[in-house]
Amino acid sequence: MELDFSREIEWAHKQWMGINFRAPPHPDTGFPQIEIVAFLGEFGGGKSFAAAARFFLVCCANPYVEGVHSGDDRPMSAIVAPTLGDLKKGPLKQLRILLGDSWQHVVVKERLYGEHQDLELFNGHVILCYSAKGALNGPSLCQIWVDEIQERCYLGQWDNYQGRVRDVRASWHNVQVSGIAERGFVEDVFRLPEPVEDRTPMCATDGVKGNRLTVLLFPEENEDNLAAGYTDELDESQPGSRKRDKDGWLLPVGAMYPTFSRDEHVRLPPGEKGTERSDFTARATSLSIDFGRKAAVLFGQHVRLPQVRGKKLRDRNAMLLVDQRMPDNKDAEELADAVRRLCWIRGVDKPRAKHWMLDKRTSVICLDPTTEPDQVRHFRRKFRGIRIVVRREGFYSRETNGVRAVDRALQDKRGTVRLFVAPWLRSHVSKRGVVEMFSGYLAAKPKDKVYEHAGDVVRYLVQQFVPLPLTESGPMDAEAAEMLNRVRTMTSGVTVSDVG
Ligand SMILES: Nc1ncnc2c1ncn2[C@@H]1O[C@H](COP(=O)(O)OP(=O)(O)O)[C@@H](O)[C@H]1O
Ligand SMILES: [Mg+2]
Repeated sequence: MELDFSREIEWAHKQWMGINFRAPPHPDTGFPQIEIVAFLGEFGGGKSFAAAARFFLVCCANPYVEGVHSGDDRPMSAIVAPTLGDLKKGPLKQLRILLGDSWQHVVVKERLYGEHQDLELFNGHVILCYSAKGALNGPSLCQIWVDEIQERCYLGQWDNYQGRVRDVRASWHNVQVSGIAERGFVEDVFRLPEPVEDRTPMCATDGVKGNRLTVLLFPEENEDNLAAGYTDELDESQPGSRKRDKDGWLLPVGAMYPTFSRDEHVRLPPGEKGTERSDFTARATSLSIDFGRKAAVLFGQHVRLPQVRGKKLRDRNAMLLVDQRMPDNKDAEELADAVRRLCWIRGVDKPRAKHWMLDKRTSVICLDPTTEPDQVRHFRRKFRGIRIVVRREGFYSRETNGVRAVDRALQDKRGTVRLFVAPWLRSHVSKRGVVEMFSGYLAAKPKDKVYEHAGDVVRYLVQQFVPLPLTESGPMDAEAAEMLNRVRTMTSGVTVSDVG
């Protein structure tokens, strides 16, 4: 089978270099080396595509040979992705895109369901598919490809994966990864020191050391293959803290919210006419509550920033935090009472100048994910007609997406700020104050309950009200991306039970 990749990948020299890379024979033994290639960068850089192309070349170079292999003993490669779903959306999809109509001739058997998932190719080569959870139980491989290498599910697995590439009959040994160029273990393993002169392989440029090559691929270099507007979408949905260093590696995150600054964030939103706390108390307010011996209660209001792109979802595209309380309460009923005394509900109570107004149409009360139905009931009773949302645990957990959501609301990659803290909260000097939380989160011990509490309520409110799209690695056209993001922000961020 003749395959000519040169035409298709002409546009990006770096991508081509990664696909083409052959390590020189080992200088001491003269034997071919196991090549280690990392396609790193950011979403949409073409990493998985380039990795798919290289992977396929290596499959072609290691065919079933009569007399060398027999029966089920076949030349094998493996693809690993965080989940089998990721595998289908990522590596396998890119392989399909790459092969186009040839797929049906190239792939002679396809088993993608059931316990063992694999593909058999025209030349007798077998591709084993794994999720990060499934153990790689002993195959001797010609090559392995690990996609989304930055995912935490791979921590500590790298040696095991690498060690599987050991089929002595293979003519081309390849270990490759694709994923985000991120500080942490990705950098520890794949950020190479300066190239070593006497091991420079054929197509040497930067990022090469002996048998190893690290190629950095970014969406702005891949614009020809991306839907119009993709890079914009990306900048808007990425936290501003995700800056690149001079080589393109994403900078380390020192504190949990590195972009937070008192000047930028502790102020009223631009264009705001009100100046005093009392100018804000008659506006619709939402709140989030985290239970505990000392509960955390946070009050926020929607803000519409005129300069931020007006899409339906983002019409209310920012949030101003207006108040914060930490009542001492023994149980949910007392807490519901205490919070109720801080508010007035439009159409139910008389306006009260120092209290926060709740509006049945727009106000929401977000409760922490561990709230029991019994506890929810107290709030429902006290706040009749107001929407109550119990935050969901899991995917939106503290470490990952919740923190990212707040981080990018503080500032996206383009510099847009969507989260403000009212100046009168500056004097909350307590460690449980939101300003202190933003500045000190990670400076404190990682499991500092005090910060955690203040941080949790911020996440609930932001995820509820400043929905920014998540980024999806992999092929997307702008419309599909938009749809996906809409569905996601609308469905998965929020409710298990809408009690209200
Ligand atoms: N050389 C290429 N020719 C055609 N399409 C490409 C090429 N490189 C990348 N693409 C396309 O660009 C999109 C993004 O690439 P992908 O590999 O999914 O990016 P990443 O893995 O870096 O997020 C995909 O739709 C992919 O098929
Ligand atoms: Mg990818």
